[in-house]
Amino acid sequence: MNSRKFLSVFTSATEEQRKANFIDYWEFTQHHAGELLEAEKDLAKKRAKLLSFQENPVKLRKPLANPDAFYRNYLEMKDDPKSLDRLTLMLTCIYKFARHEWVGINGAWDVVPDMANSHTIEDKISRVHLAEEYCHGRLFNEMLVTCGLDKVEWVPLTGWRKWIYEQFPKVPGFLMDAPAFVTELMGVSFYFHLDRLFDDILADEPEVRQRMKELLDEITIDEIAHVGQRRNFLGPVATKISQWLVPPLYTMFYRDIPEVALLFNVNDMIKGGLAFDFNGVSNHLMEHSWVPSYCKA
Ligand SMILES: [Fe+2]
Ligand SMILES: [Fe+2]
Repeated sequence: MNSRKFLSVFTSATEEQRKANFIDYWEFTQHHAGELLEAEKDLAKKRAKLLSFQENPVKLRKPLANPDAFYRNYLEMKDDPKSLDRLTLMLTCIYKFARHEWVGINGAWDVVPDMANSHTIEDKISRVHLAEEYCHGRLFNEMLVTCGLDKVEWVPLTGWRKWIYEQFPKVPGFLMDAPAFVTELMGVSFYFHLDRLFDDILADEPEVRQRMKELLDEITIDEIAHVGQRRNFLGPVATKISQWLVPPLYTMFYRDIPEVALLFNVNDMIKGGLAFDFNGVSNHLMEHSWVPSYCKA
């Protein structure tokens, strides 16, 4: 752990600072993710990393007792969630969280300019950002495969949920930037809590626990950088608004996933979001990630 090296993520920044930070992030992200494989919605370094996991699979010592319970409840909870064992509950929860991310990026990929038509550094950053999110979907899928679930389908949302995700990328930046930042922050807090849940639920499964953590680290390193990057889109007013949005957005989002209340403490996640300053993030993640200059002490 670091000691007070960083300031609050809600620290305000000047226009010049933000401009310089976009240039710095763009340098970082190209190096970090490798070549963008646009047709495949993939990134060279991320793809190689996923392949190295797939080529060295690990398995549960004690397979899931009832995979049907997962398949019955992963799209919509059909059973009483309290009747499910905690591992199954955690896996349906992972799917549901990842599905929201996946639906969100599907809505955005066709709307934002592709790399050939990205003329600003912000557009280029956003294109690579979306490709990284697709890689996260693959890493989450690999977590489920690691737990023996190789028949998972990635299914679009329907109804009002689908509609909301379709509208989001069409909304102008000055309205969309604050909630977009808060969703990245929410992702990071979810992954920190999930990492601790692995220690608890997979205590008797050291190989799978280790692999799940490695897969999650790959995602979390990107998400910490996304928090800084999306923060860099915010001027002082939007930064303030984003702070106000943390409690209602977290509450609304998690209310939709019934597993969350049984596995996590959403109030702790909200407190963590409001107090977020990168100091609590492990060094092994920070050294591969990115933080805006104005959040450094
Ligand atoms: Fe992500
Ligand atoms: Fe992200």
